[in-house]
Amino acid sequence: MIPPDKTPSRIAGMFDAIAPRYDLLNHLLSAGLDRRWRDAAVDALALREGSRVLDLCTGTADLALATVRHASSASVIGVDFAGEMLRLGAVKVRSASLESRIRLVRGDAASIPVSTGSCDAATIGFGIRNVAEPQRALIEIARVLRPGARLAILEFGQPRIPGVRTLYSWYFRYLLPLVGRMISKHQSAYSYLPASVGAFPSPAEFAKILAATGFSQVRAVPLTFGIVYLFTAEKR
Ligand SMILES: C[S@@+](CC[C@H](N)C(=O)[O-])C[C@H]1O[C@@H](n2cnc3c(N)ncnc32)[C@H](O)[C@@H]1O
Repeated sequence: MIPPDKTPSRIAGMFDAIAPRYDLLNHLLSAGLDRRWRDAAVDALALREGSRVLDLCTGTADLALATVRHASSASVIGVDFAGEMLRLGAVKVRSASLESRIRLVRGDAASIPVSTGSCDAATIGFGIRNVAEPQRALIEIARVLRPGARLAILEFGQPRIPGVRTLYSWYFRYLLPLVGRMISKHQSAYSYLPASVGAFPSPAEFAKILAATGFSQVRAVPLTFGIVYLFTAEKR
């Protein structure tokens, strides 16, 4: 299988192009489960009063919004390199009157525009698989976190129960790209999705990568039959 092209300009351009339909398709294609998955990630952070959280690959800021809604005194810095995703995220942040608690910044995961040791927790929702150099991004996250800070990463996986796996695989490979193409009007973004999930390391392999990039207490928890994995870890 040819690995998907993750050139940063291509990935940012793709997300900019699908940005207007991104939230709608997320909720539709996951039957609303995406909200639950984000809530599970925020729960896993066990945030303390006044925590400062980095949300890398923040996109339209849904995970940043879930974080501040969950932890009433937390603040989030959301980083993404797709300007149009960020613009739509900023509209949502403003309409929720949360500008004082969520700051959205344009930047690349390879060089996070946040100072060393300044964050109490970090999240990535469905973003790490798109990053050209995931190890480099994880080392960057470890840099900006204080020791002992928690990390929660959501990423798509593959169900382990055989019947569910077959059904889901058909949905993910055929129906999802079709619906995604019809609604987003983008020819390849929703075919890239299953291709990029297929090329991503297995949960066990990704857990090893986390352990090798500065994290301990690594756990990979399957959500909804393993359609999604929640990876949690602590900065050493
Ligand atoms: C599938 S979206 C996820 C958005 C959001 N976290 C969510 O839960 O819906 C992936 C996002 O990652 C961003 N992204 C991918 N690679 C990136 C990189 N190297 N640096 C910054 N952002 C990146 C894309 O621009 C896109 O907005």
